[in-house]
Amino acid sequence: MLTSAPPSASPILERSESRLSKKVFIKTYGCQMNVYDSARMADVLAPLGYTACATPAEADMVILNTCHIREKADDKVFSELGRLHQLQIEKERAGGRLVLGVAGCVAQAEGAEIARRAPYVDMVFGPQSYHRLPEMVARLARGGGLVLETEFPVEDKFDHLPQPSHQIGPSVFLTIQEGCDKFCTFCVVPYTRGAEFSRPVADIVAEARLLVSQGAREITVLGQNVNAYHGAGENGAVVGLGELIRRLAGEVGGIERLRYMTSHPRDVDDSLIAAHRDVGILMPLLHLPVQSGADRILAAMNRGHTAQDYRRIVDRLRDACPPLALSSDFIVGFPGETGADFEATMTLIREVGYAQAFSFKYSPRPGTPAATQGVQVAEPVKAARLADLQVLLAEQQHAFNESFLGKTLPVLLDRPGRQAGQLAGRSPYLQPVQVAASADLLGTIASVAINAARTNSLAGRLSTLPALAGVSAA
Ligand code: 5AD
Ligand code: SF4
Repeated sequence: MLTSAPPSASPILERSESRLSKKVFIKTYGCQMNVYDSARMADVLAPLGYTACATPAEADMVILNTCHIREKADDKVFSELGRLHQLQIEKERAGGRLVLGVAGCVAQAEGAEIARRAPYVDMVFGPQSYHRLPEMVARLARGGGLVLETEFPVEDKFDHLPQPSHQIGPSVFLTIQEGCDKFCTFCVVPYTRGAEFSRPVADIVAEARLLVSQGAREITVLGQNVNAYHGAGENGAVVGLGELIRRLAGEVGGIERLRYMTSHPRDVDDSLIAAHRDVGILMPLLHLPVQSGADRILAAMNRGHTAQDYRRIVDRLRDACPPLALSSDFIVGFPGETGADFEATMTLIREVGYAQAFSFKYSPRPGTPAATQGVQVAEPVKAARLADLQVLLAEQQHAFNESFLGKTLPVLLDRPGRQAGQLAGRSPYLQPVQVAASADLLGTIASVAINAARTNSLAGRLSTLPALAGVSAA
């Protein structure tokens, strides 16, 4: 969510220069790619006079940047729209106007449904269309009802976006790849985000330099399938993610941490594994979703690898980079999943050991093959499996966090802490860390001696001991 609130303009200024002083509230659902897109929407709207505000009540325009990945995410959007409609009515009664936009993957997949269920929405546009916001706003001003932009435009959106300026803070996202050609049978992404597209290397390096000049110290490069990245190099050669990481580390002075997400086991190649060995600023936490530990479920999901393939990849990565820790996504209750299949997932989790993970009940998504294939697993069975799986994952996460007690970690302090006199930040493993520190350390990487570990966070005190990025503990 974009929450930076500019000083509010006086009402007189707002009336006389309304075109120059509008406010937009962008609410982000779902993945980091949406967080990046929301920041870029703010960049696109800035030349039209829109500045970000902190609440819908202050806004002239509210955009919901939506997620379609699971049914729950979808439902949230429609209930939020209901609330915003009330605000819209109140504003109209007071002689004002609130423009409502729905962006992102729900907009892409359910444009017509939104128009039917929420006819008060003014703009519906997909993830590939937001560079056209100025045109959409102009169309809206001319009247004529709902503005719908859910085509995949042939031209490249990245070529039409202004320079980024709306990501604030030392840790930022940079989208390098979009779309997915994998067609996992449970997933809507190939339908909402379209085919794989990789940005050229030179554009990414330039954007990274700009982000660093704006204060970024940690960059997470993003893609739905980030390690399927195959961007054009300057000399026409195709560059993969491993090579791109080397180039960013070598050519962009000032980056202190690099991460990438989300990757697919099938696209982990030798060059990427070597980058984990060689690139010191590549952080030692890898989010590598496996979804299931049962081969027949992996096949039904169309994942294109077995559980044993995944184990081998993890072993190779750990050989290359011993401090590497793993994160993953799991789906329980995929159609046809038996008790034995579920046990195979539990076994895989015990064998690999995870620093953190995300887990979900299978949610049938309209239009995807799995929604209508196989025998759907009963809801209570899904719920019981998810509970068991989450107990195991929480135990692992807790043990992982406890393994840092008494050790020193480098922490990128990026926000105020829970209590006065505290700052909070992230370890190389993305663990949130609370530390007593003065505000002038905000934005720096500090050595922190860890003295408390909980399942979801660490705490510690500033230390003079060196803590090197890329190693699990000093
Ligand atoms: N049901 C449940 N979980 C899903 N995911 C994607 N689609 C579905 C679905 N239909 C999960 C996967 C993916 C993560 C982003 O969301 O685990 O990796
Ligand atoms: Fe969805 Fe599979 Fe593509 Fe990931 S790899 S975005 S889960 S289809």
